[in-house]
Amino acid sequence: MDSQPILHILLTKEEIEAAVKRLAAEIKENYQGKYPLLIGVLKGSFMFMADLIRQLDFPLEVDFIRLSSYGRGKETSGRIKVVQYLHSQIKGRDVLVIEDIVDTGITTGFLLDYLHKKKPASLRLCTLTDKPSRRRAPVTIDYLGFTVPNKFLVGYGLDLNEKFRNLPDICVLEEES
Ligand code: PRP
Repeated sequence: MDSQPILHILLTKEEIEAAVKRLAAEIKENYQGKYPLLIGVLKGSFMFMADLIRQLDFPLEVDFIRLSSYGRGKETSGRIKVVQYLHSQIKGRDVLVIEDIVDTGITTGFLLDYLHKKKPASLRLCTLTDKPSRRRAPVTIDYLGFTVPNKFLVGYGLDLNEKFRNLPDICVLEEES
């Protein structure tokens, strides 16, 4: 029988909202007037992207790429698959990647290399959460919401086996058998 998940709130929706506003102010300072392309990494970033761009009151474009490495379960396979490609031209654009979490860094490292080869004018990374204790591939984060502990997190876009993405808070998931 499946164990019952226990959820503890790590970041409340109010704390997330405040971080989104702070990040938007930082992004606005650097990108206003540049017509940037914000690239969300699906699925996890959809909620963060939606909240972030509503705080950015200047012209920008949004695109999404869908990458997957975790499949079912909690450990990355280490092999990144592009599940859905971008539709935008990257060459010459000011590109800002929007992530929900940088964990091992393998997904983001892959994506930044992939985009870099397409010759953007600039390429930066904004992530809501960062789990540096798990890093296996180096990643430079330009805009960071929260540094988080080495716990399995769900909510606000983050999932376990596709569940819990709809939670408004970010929660630590513990399992009790
Ligand atoms: C999650 C998350 C990041 C990635 C981070 O995506 O959204 O993209 O893992 O992990 P890493 O730093 O160890 O590579 P996942 O592959 O689970 O797909 P999802 O966004 O559809 O949940």
